[in-house]
Amino acid sequence: MVLIRDAQAGDATAIARVHVASWQSTYAGMLPAKYLAGMSLRGAEARWRGSLPDRGPGSGTVVAVDGDGTVAGFCSFGPQRRGIDGFAGEVYALYLHDDAKGCGMGRLLMAASAERMLAGGFRSGLVWCLSTNPTRWFYERLGGVRIADRPGRFAGTEILEVAYGWRDLVPLAGQSAVG
Ligand SMILES: CC(C)(COP(=O)(O)OP(=O)(O)OC[C@H]1O[C@@H](n2cnc3c(N)ncnc32)[C@H](O)[C@@H]1OP(=O)(O)O)[C@@H](O)C(=O)NCCC(=O)NCCS
Repeated sequence: MVLIRDAQAGDATAIARVHVASWQSTYAGMLPAKYLAGMSLRGAEARWRGSLPDRGPGSGTVVAVDGDGTVAGFCSFGPQRRGIDGFAGEVYALYLHDDAKGCGMGRLLMAASAERMLAGGFRSGLVWCLSTNPTRWFYERLGGVRIADRPGRFAGTEILEVAYGWRDLVPLAGQSAVG
């Protein structure tokens, strides 16, 4: 059993735990080991404490809670930040604990985020992903279409980010009924 709900102020520590563990596992070999090893739970906790309070319509964070009551994953979203034409909303971060992957939680978190973006007036949305991250196939599976590439630097290393977009978030929101 998985419960998807809006994050509350008291979830900051649990979300930070998932955030740090999932980054260290997901990006091993993609981002510098020194950067990943230096990620601090305390720092992540402080950032999440600051960003969880109400951020207005179409913005927020949802969490996936497993049968034991543990936060196993989260997804945060809000207005699109990089001015890509035709995409109003953006998924900022989507991470699950390693042992929670492959059970449908990612799909449910994306659907719940799409529902909330739609309710906040964002009809479309996108997500950025490292080009080397196999998660890009997950976004395609959920109907996302590659719409933009952006080279850049992160933690002293060159990266290529790719954006997947949904011109209509309704079918994505509808996937909350699947899985
Ligand atoms: C990406 C992530 C959230 C997906 O969540 P998940 O719960 O494992 O995915 P789901 O079980 O909901 O999968 C939904 C569908 O996508 C497919 N899928 C999931 N990951 C996939 C992958 N890496 N490649 C291809 N297909 C994938 C599933 O097979 C499933 O297909 P179905 O429609 O046939 O059932 C999770 O794997 C994760 O946290 N990854 C590490 C963090 C990360 O990379 N975050 C994104 C940063 S941009």
